[in-house]
Amino acid sequence: EFFAAKDGDLAGKKIMITTGPTYEKIDPVRFIGNYSSGKMGFALADECAARGAAVTLVSGPVQLRTHYPMHQHFNVESAGQMFEAATSLFYNADAVIMAAAVADYTPEQVADKKIKREKTGDMSLDLKPTQDIAARLGEMKKQYPGKVLVGFALETNDERQNAEDKLNRKNLDFIVLNSLNDKGAGFRYDTNKISIIDRNGKKDYPLKSKAEVAADIIDHLVEVMKH
Ligand code: CTP
Ligand code: CA
Repeated sequence: EFFAAKDGDLAGKKIMITTGPTYEKIDPVRFIGNYSSGKMGFALADECAARGAAVTLVSGPVQLRTHYPMHQHFNVESAGQMFEAATSLFYNADAVIMAAAVADYTPEQVADKKIKREKTGDMSLDLKPTQDIAARLGEMKKQYPGKVLVGFALETNDERQNAEDKLNRKNLDFIVLNSLNDKGAGFRYDTNKISIIDRNGKKDYPLKSKAEVAADIIDHLVEVMKH
């Protein structure tokens, strides 16, 4: 069931949304992934489209579909591919919402054959850092101050401090905080409980469906885009 959206207040706006997990290839049959379902990003994409925006969705591997037509929909797999897509699509967006759970590390090398079980002993993988998409777009925003950047922070501890650090470090306009300590919030649920943190402070919202949470986030985005 889709939450009733406010008509047309994003008409003429171009919004890019990253969503889903990323898969970092280890060998032809294995990857490093995470528990992100992509549902929050898809709910945001539908909410934006329902309110008249031309939405460009950049999604990692998920089995979801949108209810509203997207302007563009790119499917990517790895953090590297998501970085390439998002940085090139940035110029054509009025606002970017980064809801993706992007891998922070990726294997140093991808084995071209399936890695075999060793007879004895431990095994380890060498990982290298991925590029931070949000931080790069935050850098690019310095040349395009009119563009609005929205990030997410999923935290287990020191939530507010960590989220504020990310807001500043990545040069975002606001950040949506999910606390994994809140029951019903996070990856596996159809509900979510968020706070929105910007340079004016923090606003807490009650537990709601992800579609309703999307409407709250987009209400905030619409206000920010007015200024
Ligand atoms: N993000 C991104 N590219 C990355 C990592 C994160 O665009 N390589 C974005 C996420 O989509 C999110 C925000 O940055 O909007 C915060 O992600 P998070 O993983 O919480 O922050 P990190 O800076 O990676 O910090 P850490 O994982 O150490 O908490
Ligand atoms: Ca991270």
